[in-house]
Amino acid sequence: MEASRVDAGQFRIGMRTLAGAVNIITSAHGGHRYGMTATAVCSATAEPPTVLACINKLATTHAAVAKSKVFCVNVLRVEDWELSTTFSGGHSGEARFKSRNWTRLATGAPVLVDSLVSFDCRVVKKLVHGSHTIFLGQVEQILVGQKGKPLLYSDGQYAKLASLTLGEPLPEGLDYWGF
Ligand SMILES: Cc1cc2nc3c(=O)[nH]c(=O)nc-3n(C[C@H](O)[C@H](O)[C@H](O)COP(=O)(O)O)c2cc1C
Repeated sequence: MEASRVDAGQFRIGMRTLAGAVNIITSAHGGHRYGMTATAVCSATAEPPTVLACINKLATTHAAVAKSKVFCVNVLRVEDWELSTTFSGGHSGEARFKSRNWTRLATGAPVLVDSLVSFDCRVVKKLVHGSHTIFLGQVEQILVGQKGKPLLYSDGQYAKLASLTLGEPLPEGLDYWGF
């Protein structure tokens, strides 16, 4: 089939089919806490330990990250889908932090105590592109929180993971994180 030129609507339809892990990106600036739900987060490099986060320039957390140059990626457990709603418009500002226990690590960005894992980062590079800024954050500290399964989001729905290999390790060389 012939490839066609793509508009934002078509792009969104395509992107809805991707399954992504749900995270809360937090930051702190001027004595206030900020946070938002985000799936556009991934590992960038292991050496140095760096994560990548794409944040809409209109999101309130964007200004906080840009000014403070710190953020924390809190990876949510499947039980936490309501927290994802809270941090994506259900509440705003400080009210988003009411329902759970939060702490701080090296950078001062809010860290969800019972996340799956939290990556506390300092911004080392950023790329402004269209509607979003792509932040690269060097990981200064990690909190490995509760054991559990990651919360996923796909096709506008929250979802959970089901193993296809039933707990068996993949053959030598196929586990990406074995590199
Ligand atoms: C599942 C999910 C994933 C999202 N992923 C992102 C993302 O990766 N980047 C982004 O800028 N906004 C993302 N959003 C949208 C923001 O969470 C939402 O616009 C939020 O309300 C922005 O914060 P604000 O209300 O304080 O401006 C996502 C929303 C949901 C529900």
